[in-house]
Amino acid sequence: MPPVHAPPYARVILEHLRGGDFDLSQLFGRHIHWGWWERAQDGDGTLPDFEAAAERMCHRLFEAGGLRDGMSVLDAGCGFGGTTAALDARFQGVSLTGLNIDARQLERAREQVRPSPGNTVAFVEGDACAMPFPDASFDAVLAVECIFHFPDRQRFFEEARRVLRPGGRLVVSDFVPRRAFAPVLGAQDLLFGAYQRRISGFVDIRYPLERYRALAQRTGFTPLAERDITANTLPTYTVVRRLMPRKFGTQAALSMTGLLTLELVTRLDLLRYMILSFSRC
Ligand SMILES: C[S@@+](CC[C@H](N)C(=O)[O-])C[C@H]1O[C@@H](n2cnc3c(N)ncnc32)[C@H](O)[C@@H]1O
Repeated sequence: MPPVHAPPYARVILEHLRGGDFDLSQLFGRHIHWGWWERAQDGDGTLPDFEAAAERMCHRLFEAGGLRDGMSVLDAGCGFGGTTAALDARFQGVSLTGLNIDARQLERAREQVRPSPGNTVAFVEGDACAMPFPDASFDAVLAVECIFHFPDRQRFFEEARRVLRPGGRLVVSDFVPRRAFAPVLGAQDLLFGAYQRRISGFVDIRYPLERYRALAQRTGFTPLAERDITANTLPTYTVVRRLMPRKFGTQAALSMTGLLTLELVTRLDLLRYMILSFSRC
């Protein structure tokens, strides 16, 4: 398995946030994920519009997993705790845990997220592929736009199954390539991977839907929902493309190369943005 490190972009974002960067706090200060718009033409390119869309993305994930009041939920790869905060605001009587490999991001999450009365929130440092939780601890596990950083999807699914109670839900959002395109991404990674990893860290977006289905079967999950929401995420690129070069300084070229490649293959329908949910057998 590749070594487990926090992605370098998270450090850059944190430095800006600590310096009081208002734009970046609107873009990635709460959520570090793409937005969701009802129709692609609804995006107006502004930061407040993006912020609202990033919050809506969480709600689409909660729906896909059938989350309810009273559940115990793990937000794996929780970033700055934005999804945990959205869970706290949406549900009552919930016990929420955010897990992240990066202590510095967790520090910000603890500062930002205070549980509503009747809910509990804990943030825990650890690897989503070797979770520091007992068996059958949760009713739902979420992995919001982070599974591509995990060193091994199979290990993550095995761990998610272990910590979920029977009938529990696993909800993942991921960049999912068309099957025939996955090897091209592999070649692209061989050519440019080392260069792009300097800002993105370890990333693997070569996992097509067919592999997810086989993985679910192998690890004891039944697929519940497979939602292609690519069109709903497209306005994200306008906003992120505009801000990225200004924020990433000397690393702007690196981040732009990765971002433009992602946008191009997404617009060509070679890579889809999907929400996948599963029920633990
Ligand atoms: C794109 S961010 C998404 C953050 C958050 N889920 C959100 O939507 O705002 C990816 C996150 O995955 C975390 N991460 C990467 N590898 C991890 C691992 N092996 N275990 C736990 N978290 C990990 C990173 O530190 C980062 O916070």
